[in-house]
Amino acid sequence: MAQEKTEEFETVQGVEKPGKNKAMEAGQYFDFFEHEAGTFNTIGPKAREIIEQDCKITSACTARPYPLVVDSAKGSVIRDVDGREYIDLVAGIAVMNAGYSNSEVKAAILSQLEKMTHCGYGDFFAEPPVKLAKKLEDLSGYSKVFYCNSGTEAVEAAIKLAFWKTKRQGLISFYNSFHGRTLGSLSLTCSKARQKEHFPVLHTAHSHYAYCYRCPFKLEYPSCGIECAKELENLIFRRELSPTDTAAVFVEPVQGEGGYIVPPPEFHKEVRRICTDNDVLLVADEVQAGCFRTGPFLAMENFGVKAEISCFAKALGGGLPLGAILADRELMDWPQGVHSNTFGGNLLASAASFASLEFLEKENIEHRVKELGSQMKQRLRELQENFPCIGDVRGLGLMVGVEIVKPDKSIDPIRRDRILREAFKEGILLLPCGDSVIRFSPPLVITDEELDSGIEKFQKAMKKAGS
Ligand SMILES: Cc1ncc(COP(=O)(O)O)c(C=O)c1O
Repeated sequence: MAQEKTEEFETVQGVEKPGKNKAMEAGQYFDFFEHEAGTFNTIGPKAREIIEQDCKITSACTARPYPLVVDSAKGSVIRDVDGREYIDLVAGIAVMNAGYSNSEVKAAILSQLEKMTHCGYGDFFAEPPVKLAKKLEDLSGYSKVFYCNSGTEAVEAAIKLAFWKTKRQGLISFYNSFHGRTLGSLSLTCSKARQKEHFPVLHTAHSHYAYCYRCPFKLEYPSCGIECAKELENLIFRRELSPTDTAAVFVEPVQGEGGYIVPPPEFHKEVRRICTDNDVLLVADEVQAGCFRTGPFLAMENFGVKAEISCFAKALGGGLPLGAILADRELMDWPQGVHSNTFGGNLLASAASFASLEFLEKENIEHRVKELGSQMKQRLRELQENFPCIGDVRGLGLMVGVEIVKPDKSIDPIRRDRILREAFKEGILLLPCGDSVIRFSPPLVITDEELDSGIEKFQKAMKKAGS
């Protein structure tokens, strides 16, 4: 799709012009936020100073959409280093599901902190990771857990388990997917070419996901017959990667980084059927959509599908780094020494995770998430009448995306980024995803008032961005 390339878009997205492909120089964020985006008027002197130092000393490979410098947080509100408050509608990328400074999670962390923080769980035994494993079994129905520290590590572990189990080395994932940035998970990731430039990959084929707003087959749901899912069988297995060479198909229940894309109900069922018929493992990457984000603990439950392996991270640790893969005992039967790590099952992270999951269960969060998610979608859809640049509003639970488009329905990342910065000025935090999408993934404990206020501020931001 043709994409307008202005300095503004290129700077924010970190996409540089040919010949200018060098590390971001110190001060580039500074200049951009000050002169082009005008967001520096919003922040105070302490924030400016920290950003200036950050630009000089930390790697420039991350992309920040606006100059937020956090200091503290409670519930769904973040306070910056100069005392300005923001309603957080992204929860640190779908991490803080139980809210910031949750008193139960904090108490569990403090209690474990008094005892011991790390033990090398790969070498010794400890109670917190075992207690957590039983909780995960209750919530998911899977009987075995392997711990790690992040989403990409969970995906790496799933890749290795699938290779080990099947003795095959081919993988399949979907266009627009995001599974992480280390070399195995990056092979699956197919979201932005920039993420893969110059990096070697594993043997991976990509198939089309059900992106109904921009159907790759130009068909309409439901008369399409879920042609996209059938592509696995009709095209990939026939022409690119034989099922006998395929270890697993990796799929996100709802695509996250790729644009908060929710497939129709039949999509995952069809992918499941194809995997079963062809004796190929199915791996659900629940890193972003899991842990009650879409209602049930497993996002795949919304589709009535069970994968052989599910990957978790982000919200799993209750705000501390923790990843895991879950599978049944018969599948996760790899022997001692095949895979391990130093920090997986970290005692503090396990304690925080257990407390956070217990809290969310106790709050009957699944019901609340479904209710709030519907309200949020309805409110955002009402805005579509006044703002024709809102091409699509979609979501599952509290994972809601707003796709910003030009009048001809083509993507409009420049406007999208402008809206994000105006939202920041209004006092709400949102993040981009996909080519032209704004994502809403607030803490699951966000109050009605905070959500109302957040949507009002979003509306103001849309106006100010000239939408
Ligand atoms: C679905 C999915 N899988 C994997 C990852 C990678 O997680 P991490 O950033 O913790 O490595 C992400 C991160 O956004 C994700 O959304």
